[in-house]
Amino acid sequence: MQKKVTKAVFPVAGLGSRFLPATKAVPKEMLPIVDKPLMQYAVEEAVAAGIDTMIFITGRSKNSIMEHYDKAYELEKELEAKNKTEILNLLHSVIPPNIKCIFIRQPEPLGLGHAVSCAEPVVGDEPFAVILPDDMIYDGTRGCTKQMVDLYEKTGSSVLAVERVDPKETDKYGIVRTGESKGNYAAIEHIVEKPKPDVAPSNLAVVGRYILTPAIFEKIKNTGRGAGGEIQLTDAIADLMKDEQVLAYEFEGIRYDSGAKLGFLIAQVEYGLRHPELKDDFKTYLKEFAKTL
Ligand code: UTP
Repeated sequence: MQKKVTKAVFPVAGLGSRFLPATKAVPKEMLPIVDKPLMQYAVEEAVAAGIDTMIFITGRSKNSIMEHYDKAYELEKELEAKNKTEILNLLHSVIPPNIKCIFIRQPEPLGLGHAVSCAEPVVGDEPFAVILPDDMIYDGTRGCTKQMVDLYEKTGSSVLAVERVDPKETDKYGIVRTGESKGNYAAIEHIVEKPKPDVAPSNLAVVGRYILTPAIFEKIKNTGRGAGGEIQLTDAIADLMKDEQVLAYEFEGIRYDSGAKLGFLIAQVEYGLRHPELKDDFKTYLKEFAKTL
């Protein structure tokens, strides 16, 4: 019988160099979009997909992620004493009941593939999700990870979220070529990490959401350093495709590349315009401001 996806791996051990100096002491994943850190949006998406075990692959300067998911006793006592129930509830909502958080240290930032392999002792022989928090995906309903879990449950195959990107930007992504389309998904025939536009097999780019079968772990062990001198998840997936079907899934929703400065600013504005408390005032402000541009 097919196993359920109950675990999500969050590789958050990268250097965040595109956001320096902001990320010198603060992890990229703790930068806020409106009133929540990037990390929290990612964990909420996993919870919405029915996942109950969150596995964080962390590195140096990432302790604040652990603190965010730890119980804040003193703060809670203080808020209780001051009868600040609403804020207290907000604090409790960071870790919903029955959710387990596990932290694993990636000793060196050797690449995304290596980071994922650090989760093997906890994931074991089960399918699992990989979520990169700086790729935010808004679909207004069940969430991108749930969409992908549903496809995994239907097919039993690994699933990668993909979207069309500017053909000039293929060298920022893993790029796939797919076979016959089955609507919003298709089997991947070829995958390559960060190809230059003139040799890219398409402009269909892998974004930060994966459902992987546990066979990927053996493949990562046999994967040498690839693009950028890093152990690339893409190369291990290419190897996995020799044994198993891997699907590219064109997700429903809008992706924000919040690991880059412009994408972060766009996310800030659009999430602000959806925020129940702020949207009306923020919209009024933006309309006025636009007149001055
Ligand atoms: P990125 O390519 O976005 O790298 O990694 P980065 O370090 O986060 O950011 P820049 O490019 O230096 O600005 C993709 C994802 O893989 C994780 C990152 O934390 C990010 O979520 N990662 C990358 C690891 O966990 N470990 C690594 O060794 C490399």
